[in-house]
Parts: sequence; structure tokens; C-alpha cells
Amino acid sequence: MTDKAQQNQLIELLKNARNVFIFTGAGVSKESGLPTFRDLDGEWTKYDPMTFATLDGFLSNPVMVWNMYRERLMQISAAQPNPAHIVIAQMEHYYPEFLLTTQNVDNLHERAGNKKMVKIHGDACRIRCVDCEETYPVSDYDFSEEFDEPKLPKCPDCGGLCRPDIVWFGEYVPQEAFAASINAAMTCDLMMIVGTSGEVSGGYGFAERALSHGAKIVEINPSEGALTHYAHFWIPQQAGVALPQIWKLVVGDA
Ligand code: OAD
Repeated sequence: MTDKAQQNQLIELLKNARNVFIFTGAGVSKESGLPTFRDLDGEWTKYDPMTFATLDGFLSNPVMVWNMYRERLMQISAAQPNPAHIVIAQMEHYYPEFLLTTQNVDNLHERAGNKKMVKIHGDACRIRCVDCEETYPVSDYDFSEEFDEPKLPKCPDCGGLCRPDIVWFGEYVPQEAFAASINAAMTCDLMMIVGTSGEVSGGYGFAERALSHGAKIVEINPSEGALTHYAHFWIPQQAGVALPQIWKLVVGDA
């Protein structure tokens, strides 16, 4: 950010905020080495979402789809929270009212320390039975080798085929997490949008609700996206660079 007056306004805004709602997407985990979806090197340029992110695609070829998610799980377990995750975890302690809503199915926000958070696209570290809907941690299963038909994860309760416990195209987002996000959007005085293209999952609705009662919106994203026009402040930088710089100015060296 080059304009000093604008930077001062932004810092004052973050210092004075009491009720903060943060909405994150894949970009916040990019500097941890996890790919985004819609960037030029993103997942949806390599994998057809209709094959790899729909129930029909999964049921047509569960071995292929599971092997893709197995690779993603290995990437997640090798990744570490980056400075953006760390600052967002510190923000949770700083602000009296706080909610983090993430679209990410990785576990990097939790590992950085966030607790007041909801995941509106599910959790890649859980699996769910297609038949009885029971969920289980992936740690209950053996992902050490590539899957073939007999090795596909099965439900210990009913024997049904298990799938990743994430929200695929054409499926509903978890209602409780969505309602908590709407509530946060409607009550926050500051909404921060970090690392999402804003193409899916209610981002417009959250931003419009925040604006409708006078909240300020700050976006951090190197590229302009579908939510940028809502932002009072757009910081066109990588989250892992911008967030620590801004946060240092808010909290000082403490
Ligand atoms: P996208 O891939 O649509 O957008 C990622 C955004 O991150 C882009 O706008 C990038 O410009 C931005 N970005 C890249 N590097 C960044 C960095 N270092 N710091 C900050 N921003 C950066 O990912 P999402 O918006 O998260 O759904 O996509 C939403 C959903 O679409 C995902 O949750 C996924 C996908 O289909 C499911 O998997 C269920």
C-alpha cells in the first residue's frame, strides 16, 4: 500500500473494530504450498470439477476420485500454516467478537490456532458414508497406498462407501455454519475478505449484509475478484505478506 493517508485509515479501522468477520478462500493457503482452484495453476485447470467435485462424478469412478483426494490430503498434511493463518489466529484473540468463515477444506486455520471458526465447504480431513451419512476422521483410515476397488474406504457402521466430507457442486453448504456466517456478516463492524475469488458460496450475500448495516470491508487478494467492488480497502498483495505488515502496525511490537 503506497498511499500513507489510506494506510493510516486502514490501521485506525483495524484498531477500532470490535466485531470482526473474516471470510477466507484458497488464496490464504497458497503460500503454504496448497493450490487454489481458479488461478492459472489452480485445481480446476487440471481436474474437471464435474468429475472430481460432484457426487455423480465420484460414484462413476470412486477409485480415481479418491486417489486425487488422497494426493490432496498428503499435500495438506505436509503443509504448514503461513504468516497469514498466524495473524488471523491472533486476530481471534484481539477482537471481542470474532468469526472466521473459511471455504477451505484444509486444516491450516485450526492448526494456526483459530477456534471461533466455521467451514462452509466441509473438511478434507473427514470422510462421510454415502449411505448413512456418518462421518469419520481420515486418521481412522489407511491412506498410505493408492486406492483400488477393494481398498476404498468403507463405513464401519453400515459398510457403505465413504466419500470426502466436503461440499461438492450441486450440494448444500452446512446450514449451521452458513447461518453463523450470515449472523456475523449482519453484526460485524469490519469484514475482511482474504484469498477468495468470491465466485461461489454466498460471498456476495455476506458482503452485502455487512455493507447494509454500515460495516467496512477490507479485501486482501493480489487479483481483483467478484467481491472487490464491495471493498472500502483493497490490498492487492499476497495475504502472507500483507497481513503481518498490517497487523504489526495495529498491535505495535507487542
Ligand atoms: P479460487 O481459486 O476461486 O480463488 C483463489 C483466490 O485467491 C484468487 O482470487 C487469487 O487471486 C487469490 N490468491 C492467490 N494467491 C493468493 C495469496 N497469496 N494471498 C491472497 N490471495 C491469493 O478459490 P476460492 O475462492 O477459495 O470449493 O474458491 C471457492 C471454492 O471453489 C472452493 O472452496 C472450492 C472451489 O470449488 C470446494 O472445494 C467445495
